[in-house]
Amino acid sequence: MKKNGSTKITGILGYPIEHTASPCMHNAAFKALKLDWEYIPFEVKPQQLKLAIKSIMSLGMQGVNVTIPHKKAVVPFLDELSDEAEFIGAVNTIVRKGNKLIGYNTDGEGFIKALEEEKISLAGKNVLVLGAGGAANGIIYQLLLGGAKRITIANRTIEKAKALGKHFKGKGNIEILPLDNSLKSAIKDADILINTTSLGMKDADVLLVDKNSLPKSLEAVVDIIYNPPETKLLRIAKKKGIKTMNGLSMLLHQGALSFELWTGKKAPIEVMRKALCQQFKM
Ligand SMILES: NC(=O)c1ccc[n+]([C@@H]2O[C@H](COP(=O)([O-])OP(=O)(O)OC[C@H]3O[C@@H](n4cnc5c(N)ncnc54)[C@H](OP(=O)(O)O)[C@@H]3O)[C@@H](O)[C@H]2O)c1
Repeated sequence: MKKNGSTKITGILGYPIEHTASPCMHNAAFKALKLDWEYIPFEVKPQQLKLAIKSIMSLGMQGVNVTIPHKKAVVPFLDELSDEAEFIGAVNTIVRKGNKLIGYNTDGEGFIKALEEEKISLAGKNVLVLGAGGAANGIIYQLLLGGAKRITIANRTIEKAKALGKHFKGKGNIEILPLDNSLKSAIKDADILINTTSLGMKDADVLLVDKNSLPKSLEAVVDIIYNPPETKLLRIAKKKGIKTMNGLSMLLHQGALSFELWTGKKAPIEVMRKALCQQFKM
């Protein structure tokens, strides 16, 4: 809610949007830094996206986050893209600079910051990535920058995995696998396993990997899902004594990076983390 004429407005555009956790962390951060800013969720149907983007300029907003299903669709409506958003072809943060709208993608960098926080290093590692959607794209971009030795992408729809592999051609050592028995040997060779699929949001969801094939030698198993906080995959890995990480810290850090792009101020990470944990009752 705009409180007075000088309140600066940001928010998030998505459809649906009622379950977004972003407003709590951003509004907590504005309050902590005594910034007269407000973060508002906006339900924007795909056919209204162009108009909604124009409104950032016409209403004088500072910028917005963009979430499902608009991350790719928003690209043609922007004036400039950062390097990572251009390469990935998807945007999760828009910043208004003067009369220009600039698109960024903080998802992958947020993921790397979350790994760093858990002291999970990438240099020289074999990483098995389950999924080949938008999140995988941003994460793989950063895994390669972080020095991963080999990345194996395994996806239900093999054509999508192949297309993603082609996209990264020449950027690193990438291998493509279907989600079948060939995964077993890929898991044996992996140092880090990352689930970037939406599978696991319901406990009844099937596991993409055979639980007996998860070797105790894995350095870490990461699931970018944060609700539930512990997916079946993470539960099994934890029981085997493997280090685990869910997606909450990625959500936090991608948000903190957006906050810094808008405000130019260092994000109060612990304030934002507390707000998120309260939201998810953790
Ligand atoms: N923690 C965070 O900050 C954060 C940030 C971004 C996304 N996420 C989460 O990451 C997940 C993926 O997001 P996204 O943007 O990448 O979505 P997306 O582009 O729609 O991709 C979805 C991926 O999940 C796979 N998948 C979906 N249902 C499946 C099933 N039943 N069996 C096997 N694979 C299945 C898809 O495989 P196909 O190609 O075969 O369809 C695809 O690889 C979502 O749960 C999202 O909430 C978390």
